[in-house]
Amino acid sequence: MISGAPASGKGTQCELIVQKFGLVHISTGDLLRAEVAAGTEIGSKAKEFMNAGRLVPDEIVTNMVSARLAREDVKQRGWLLDGYPRSLAQAESLEKMQIRPDLYIVLDVPDEILIDRCVGRRLDPVEGKIYHLKFFPPETEEIKARLITRPDDTEEKVKSRLQIYKQNAEAVSSAYSNITNKIDGSHSKEVVFKEIETLLSQLQQQKVKIIKSG
Ligand code: AP5
Repeated sequence: MISGAPASGKGTQCELIVQKFGLVHISTGDLLRAEVAAGTEIGSKAKEFMNAGRLVPDEIVTNMVSARLAREDVKQRGWLLDGYPRSLAQAESLEKMQIRPDLYIVLDVPDEILIDRCVGRRLDPVEGKIYHLKFFPPETEEIKARLITRPDDTEEKVKSRLQIYKQNAEAVSSAYSNITNKIDGSHSKEVVFKEIETLLSQLQQQKVKIIKSG
């Protein structure tokens, strides 16, 4: 499970984690944006909350996550939850379903960096890749021409998202205090990934040992 403030780098790290460890990446932000883009009922309910930088009601998000977690690929490859749980109620819902992570990673980044990262972020709607105008510019003019800006990435909305994150962070992380690993997310994405990779590799080795001994 990966957590952190808006633009702390969760999505960026998840791309790298999936490449290396093959887990199924479940990002509630991505799932909700896909519902909005497809014009579904969930999407139309979620849109106003997202565009205002507020949390979408727990019930909508929890139903979406539990449906995704029940799919076959998750059973085979394991899951990587990004952006969920984001409230105590959501953490409790997972507990009720007896879904617990092996590791709870928190990306820690100072506020002023977060705002810079959000305002410069661009998304490639074709490949689903995350770019940044300054830090990770697109590789080609063709990609550059199709990049989009998220409607909730204005400075004002980022501040509101950050405030909501801070209101909930402690309650959510208290549910996972014994498996929490806080990582300094202000370094380059490669340096941050190195730390995450070490943690996940250790975990993988422990699991292999348990399987072999059992
Ligand atoms: P969501 O999409 O989850 O937004 P978020 O948590 O605010 O996180 P972000 O996607 O903004 O950032 P990130 O941490 O993934 O950073 P990224 O890697 O892109 O949620 C959006 C909305 O959906 C919410 O506001 C809410 O309305 C709703 N929602 C979602 N989940 C919900 C839930 N559980 N309950 C209720 N509502 C929910 O990086 C950011 C930028 O920085 C990029 O440009 C990237 O290129 C750059 N960058 C990344 N790492 C580095 C680095 N190390 N150095 C320099 N630049 C970097």
